[in-house]
Amino acid sequence: MKPAILIQNPTQVPQLSAEQWLQHAARKLPVNDTRREARALLLGVLQRPMTWLYSHGDSLLNEAEIQRLDQALHRRVQGEPLAYILGRKPFWDMELQVSPAVLCPRPETEMLVEACLEKVAELASPTIADLGTGSGAIALALARACPAARLIATDISPEALSVAKRNARQWAPGVQLLQTSWLQGLTGPFDAIVSNPPYIEPGNPWLDSDGTRHEPKAALVAGAHGLADLFSIIGQAPARLKPDGWLLLEHGHDQSAAVQAAMKKAGFHAVETRLDTAGLARVTLGRQPY
Ligand SMILES: C[S@@+](CC[C@H](N)C(=O)[O-])C[C@H]1O[C@@H](n2cnc3c(N)ncnc32)[C@H](O)[C@@H]1O
Repeated sequence: MKPAILIQNPTQVPQLSAEQWLQHAARKLPVNDTRREARALLLGVLQRPMTWLYSHGDSLLNEAEIQRLDQALHRRVQGEPLAYILGRKPFWDMELQVSPAVLCPRPETEMLVEACLEKVAELASPTIADLGTGSGAIALALARACPAARLIATDISPEALSVAKRNARQWAPGVQLLQTSWLQGLTGPFDAIVSNPPYIEPGNPWLDSDGTRHEPKAALVAGAHGLADLFSIIGQAPARLKPDGWLLLEHGHDQSAAVQAAMKKAGFHAVETRLDTAGLARVTLGRQPY
């Protein structure tokens, strides 16, 4: 697709108001709620608050603004996630920086944060590890909700960790970040270990869908039908958890039976699975014996 509004002749400055660009973009976007998406692009690219549209909807955009907006629209029409185009994504009470080096944090992952907070609520200063932190979403949300907690977040990807570092500086500077594979080099002992690891099996057609195909494969794909990383973490966690400590894992909606079985085999008790708002089994947790 060519940029929607071509400026072929410098003397031909387009006369387009914000509201007109919005209508034009809404017609081009291949999503359901096109006006909402177009508005998010317009306000995100121009870095304006929502109220600006109501006070300045009739104001003419300048040439540079139209060019930036059309470039962003072009990328969105090609299926790139809005979060990568704008470079940020809301999660918990934060506006996190994101890049194609990290997974765009999903709203359902907030369920994992909530389950962890519930399990450490009675502890004065819990120690928590977030494995495969990506943008830092889970660790930073936990640190903000529980300021007395000591958080360490790991990722194997240095590119992901530099995004997490920038987010930590802005939202929760006390979180410690470390490049390692899962729990390697960490001794703990932790009151809780949380992770949203890769859990999609190789070859799953969802990996080629719009949005997902722009995300790093190393953040999404795991062997053994998507269970390899979940099993590695379940294998490593008992040696790093305190007695009565919790392991909490996000997983695919059809993986809860395998995750529960692996946790029980590794000695965890009080194993349970939580459903998301769509009724899908997405988080399984278990407790280390005392
Ligand atoms: C599904 S993403 C989750 C990112 C973030 N926690 C979130 O929920 O938005 C999985 C993350 O695990 C990281 N990862 C993959 N293999 C890893 C390993 N062996 N050790 C540590 N992190 C790993 C990836 O780089 C990616 O950032």
